[in-house]
Amino acid sequence: MPWAAIDGATLADEAATLAVGARLAREIKAPCNVALVGDLGAGKTTLVRGFLRALGVNGPIKSPTYALVESYDTPLGPVHHLDCYRIESLEDFEARGGFDYVTSGAIALVEWPDRIADAVRFDGTIELTWAGDGRRVTCHAGDRHG
Ligand SMILES: Nc1ncnc2c1ncn2[C@@H]1O[C@H](COP(=O)(O)OP(=O)(O)O)[C@@H](O)[C@H]1O
Ligand SMILES: [Mg+2]
Repeated sequence: MPWAAIDGATLADEAATLAVGARLAREIKAPCNVALVGDLGAGKTTLVRGFLRALGVNGPIKSPTYALVESYDTPLGPVHHLDCYRIESLEDFEARGGFDYVTSGAIALVEWPDRIADAVRFDGTIELTWAGDGRRVTCHAGDRHG
């Protein structure tokens, strides 16, 4: 499992965060829901960018804060990048079709998973926290609530 291999690393700069994303791309397969935990600016979207670049996605990778989801075709099949920051309730998530992306057998990388944690099962959790000017990454299999 990739989770233990990544756990505890210090990420000195953006390139290191991109590399974690690239590593994740080498080690997971669909279906897989990944919870990306961390404050605004922690590097969640950067990690997703590293993931997608490693799979050959060359176009713009923008944060789906307003759209809820951006989907990409990759060699691992569809990859859905969700940002639940603005999700107000599970009803809101359902009304926007969110459940489709986390139950379709694809890979879903989900920022602000706490918004939907009561209703969605995650295969792994990656958390980014500040460590000086860089970041520290912790991760484990399963939901953040165990
Ligand atoms: N390991 C790191 N050390 C220092 N800065 C980083 C690191 N990883 C990412 N960054 C920077 O921090 C910011 C993170 O932004 P973003 O990935 O959009 O965060 P989030 O999606 O968590 O809100 C970017 O400016 C990025 O260049
Ligand atoms: Mg983001």
